[in-house]
Amino acid sequence: MTSLHAFWLAGRQATGETTLDVTSPWDGRLVAQAAVPTDAQVEEAVAAAHAVTEEFAATPAHVRAAALDHVSKRLVERTEEIAQLISAENGKPIKWARGEVGRAVSVFRFAAEEARRFNGGEAQRLDTDQGGQGRLALTRRFPKGVVLGIAPFNFPLNLCAHKVAPAIAVGAPIILKPAPATPLSGLVLGELLAETDLPAGSWSVLPVANDKMPALVQDERLPVISFTGSDKVGYQIMDSVPRKHCTLELGGNGAAVVLGDFSSEADLDWAATRIATFSNYQGGQSCISVQRVIADASVYDRLVPKVVAAVESQVTGDPSDPRTDVGPLVNEDAAKRVESWVDEAVQAGARLLTGGKRDGATYAPTVLADVPADTTIACEEVFGPVLTVTKVDGEQAAFDAVNDSKYGLQAGVFTHDLQTAFRAHRALEVGGVVIGDAPSYRADQMPYGGVKQSGVGREGVRYAMEDYTYERVMVLTGLEL
Ligand code: SIN
Repeated sequence: MTSLHAFWLAGRQATGETTLDVTSPWDGRLVAQAAVPTDAQVEEAVAAAHAVTEEFAATPAHVRAAALDHVSKRLVERTEEIAQLISAENGKPIKWARGEVGRAVSVFRFAAEEARRFNGGEAQRLDTDQGGQGRLALTRRFPKGVVLGIAPFNFPLNLCAHKVAPAIAVGAPIILKPAPATPLSGLVLGELLAETDLPAGSWSVLPVANDKMPALVQDERLPVISFTGSDKVGYQIMDSVPRKHCTLELGGNGAAVVLGDFSSEADLDWAATRIATFSNYQGGQSCISVQRVIADASVYDRLVPKVVAAVESQVTGDPSDPRTDVGPLVNEDAAKRVESWVDEAVQAGARLLTGGKRDGATYAPTVLADVPADTTIACEEVFGPVLTVTKVDGEQAAFDAVNDSKYGLQAGVFTHDLQTAFRAHRALEVGGVVIGDAPSYRADQMPYGGVKQSGVGREGVRYAMEDYTYERVMVLTGLEL
């Protein structure tokens, strides 16, 4: 019998009048059903979150930190079961799903640590001018209000964690909406939160249908929106509520630059392996996966066959098999879209070096060379297991090629030269530069986010905590300083 996963309404379990089917992208089997809240239940959750705002902001740091620590510990205890769930609902190979649970463990642990040290307050003497004599400013951060967290399907647990944990850490109530294709991991997070003493109403996990979201986005009781997903939807949200505080984590077409000094056999083997792995992990469905390889002419001819060989050695197949590197995309339509973009590029003159085949929702790891600049795949985020290789002359041309994109999330630069690393850090229009590795490296405590069309604001536990709060100053008068 298929199990029904209840949603979490103001901290308690509930079911609605309808359900949604969660199916495996690998074999189409029904994994489970998720209960969908009615409009009245959504209203109840929003009203409860709004009502508890003041109480939650005043909750002692040790209570919030203990709850976050609890979730972190329970994620450790339930790692295998949750990894299986992620893999089943998302199609993510089990080894990557285990890694995702491990990252969520860290996110909650970081949030507990930050909750304990955040907002110690800063004192500023004001007697620097005569008018401020005997005065002291005390600055603390306070929550902006209830957070509406909208999470994507590609990291169904950890990107929910990145919305929820910082909100709890600062005492901001949160309404979490997991992606309709992958709601189960977010709902498990609800199970763990329900084991804590957090006030009722301070959190809800609601698999609200996408077409119901515009009303929720407009709701004045939810002043902060934290969205991860496509640039199209992200900017639609922001444009529809220009006076709200929106954090948008959007797309990218991550570049890996291989420079002339990274030229030994061992260097190129490392670069090729990392590029192949991180162009294909999660079927390329990561905003920082490698989409563009930009190689200096002096290493290009030796690098490309190594990249092709490394890509061909990626094991494609059943995500539950621990040997599998690349599973299916989230659904067959996604794989068909990737197929059409590759076909378009090939028809326009691109050379297919490997891959280019689709089997249901699975798309073969693919490498394209000589891709015309005006093709869709050269301009947009492919969000699939496809990379393009481009030859350039020198460092400046490589950096110009990275910046020749509407996106700017992360870039990787394979170089040994420290000066080059600093020049890359200065020159590249992205939110993060990784030296000596692919752009796909993300440690969950780092600031993470993009420039240009890749988004607005930063996640990473402490950065999201800052984002969810604002500084309020208190001036004390009549003091003997
Ligand atoms: C994303 O795809 O935006 C998230 C990448 C990550 O957390 O590793």
